[in-house]
Amino acid sequence: MNKPMLQVNNITKQFPGVKALDRVSIDLYEGEVLCIAGENGAGKSTLIKILSGVFMLDEGEIILNDEKVNIKNPLTAIELGFSVVYQEHRLINNLTVAENIYFGRFPMKRGFVDYRKLNDDAQQILNRLGMNIRASELVSSLGSSQSQMVEIAKALSVGAKIMILDEPSAAITDSELEKLFEIIKDLKSEGQSFIYISHRLKELFEIGDRVAVLKDGKLVGVEKVSDIDTKKIISMMVGRDLGEVYRPKDREIKEEVLRVENLTNDIVHDCSFTVRAGEIVGFSGLVGSGRSELAESVFGYRKRRAGDIFVDGRKVRIRTPKDAIANGMGFITEDRKTTGVILNKSVAVNTTFAILDKLSRAGFVNTREEKVLVDNYIKKLKIKTPSDKQEAQFLSGGNQQKVILAKWLLTESKFLICDEPTKGIDVGTKQEFYNILDDLARQGIAIMLISSELPEIVGLSNRVYVMQEGRIVKELMEDEISEETITTYSMHEME
Ligand SMILES: Nc1ncnc2c1ncn2[C@@H]1O[C@H](COP(=O)(O)OP(=O)(O)OP(=O)(O)O)[C@@H](O)[C@H]1O
Ligand SMILES: [Mg+2]
Repeated sequence: MNKPMLQVNNITKQFPGVKALDRVSIDLYEGEVLCIAGENGAGKSTLIKILSGVFMLDEGEIILNDEKVNIKNPLTAIELGFSVVYQEHRLINNLTVAENIYFGRFPMKRGFVDYRKLNDDAQQILNRLGMNIRASELVSSLGSSQSQMVEIAKALSVGAKIMILDEPSAAITDSELEKLFEIIKDLKSEGQSFIYISHRLKELFEIGDRVAVLKDGKLVGVEKVSDIDTKKIISMMVGRDLGEVYRPKDREIKEEVLRVENLTNDIVHDCSFTVRAGEIVGFSGLVGSGRSELAESVFGYRKRRAGDIFVDGRKVRIRTPKDAIANGMGFITEDRKTTGVILNKSVAVNTTFAILDKLSRAGFVNTREEKVLVDNYIKKLKIKTPSDKQEAQFLSGGNQQKVILAKWLLTESKFLICDEPTKGIDVGTKQEFYNILDDLARQGIAIMLISSELPEIVGLSNRVYVMQEGRIVKELMEDEISEETITTYSMHEME
C-alpha cells in the first residue's frame, strides 16, 4: 500500500460530560475496507459523523488526497466524496423508495422532475442489490431490513470514493448481507474505499483488510485482519480477556408458565409450544420463518386469527401488549426506534416507565427508589451515560438498546420474550446480558429467546423450537441442540 487517501489526524470531540474522541488518528487507503471496532460508546459513530459533516471536530485535522479539508456540513462531505449509511434510520416514510434514494438530487427534464429516469435509475440499483421491491413503492410499506437496504442503495447511488457503513448488518438478513459483501468486494477492486463498523466480529474477518479499535474515545491500535484473531480484538476492545462466554445450563426447570396452542396469524400457522419456569427456550429459523411474528402475537402486538394462550395453566385473553403486561409478560424487541426508547426522554424515565405504577404512591413517583433501581442497571449493563438524566437521543446506538434491556428487566416479568436482544451490543456487555438472563431463569422466570446468532441459541437454550415458513417444524431437546442440527432443520424440506 502506498500513500493513504484519507488521513484523520489527532481528532478530538467533546460532548457535555463525555470526551467522545480523544486525539484519534486513522488512515484510509484506496481500495481497502477499514473496520472500526469498539465497545458501545467507544466513539465509532462520532468519528464517522465528523467525516460526514454531522458534527464539527473540536481539534485535529482531516487530510483528503494531500489537502486539508474542512467538512462543515453534510453537503460538503458528499461533494468531497463521502457517503454514509447511518446506524439510525433516516428515510422519509411518505416518499417512494426512488425519491428517498435520490433525495435532493432528482434528475430534471425541462424544469420538471424526470420521474421515469428517477425510477429507472433507482430500480437498477435495487436490482443490483438483489432486492425484490419496486422503486415506486412507498418507504412506509417496507419492513425494517428492506429499509436498511434502501439506505444502502442510497449510499451506493452517490458513487462516492469513500463509503461509510455504520452497523449495516444490525437490521438486514444474512442473504442481504452476503449480497452487500459481494458489492463491496466488487467496488473495492475498482478502487473505492470503505469504513465498516460492526459488533459482529465474524464480519470484520470476512470483509475487512484492517481493523482499528477504539476504547473510551481513544485509539487502541490498528491491525491487519490477517494478523489477528477474535481473542486479540476482544482484548483490545474490552481491555482484558473474556473467559467462558456461556455458563452451564444446569437450571432447575419447574412448572409450565406459558402454553400456546395452535396459534395462527397472517404469517404463522398452527404453532403450539410451551415455556417453563427456569427455562430458556430458543426459537431458531431463517429470517422470514415467522419467529418474531409468533412472539408478536403472543404479546398482543399482532392480531391472532386463531389459537389460545395459557399462563400458569389458565387461558388468558391477550388482545394488546397491555393485556400481555398485565399477565406478567415482558418483551425485549428488535426495533429500537419504533417500540424501543423515547428519544427525548431521560435514561431514568425510559428505564422506569413500564414500572411507574410500582414506583408511585398516590400519583407521585418515588424518585429516590427510582434512582437506586436505574443506577443499578446503568452499572450492571455498563450503560455509558454522564447521568440518568441524559436524554436517550444522546446515547450511542448500543447504549440505547441497553436502556431497553434495563426497562424490561426491571418489570420483573415472569415470562420474558427476547427478540434479537443483543443486536448492536458489544461483546463484553453481551456476556453480561447472558449472565443476567441465566440469573433470571434461575430465579424461576420463563424465557423465550429469538436470535439469529446460533452460538447464542446453542449456548443458552434448554430447548429449541425450529421454525420454517411460519410453522414450528422441530423441537430439539437439550442434548440435541447444536448449530448443525438447528441449521439442518431450518433448511430441509419437512414431511
Ligand atoms: N449528540 C451527542 N450529545 C452528547 N453525547 C453524545 C452525542 N453523541 C454521542 N455522544 C456520546 O459520545 C460517546 C460516543 O458515542 P458514539 O455514538 O460515537 O459511540 P459508538 O462507538 O458508535 O457506540 P455504539 O456501538 O453503541 O453505536 C458516547 O458516550 C455517547 O453517549
Ligand atoms: Mg454507534
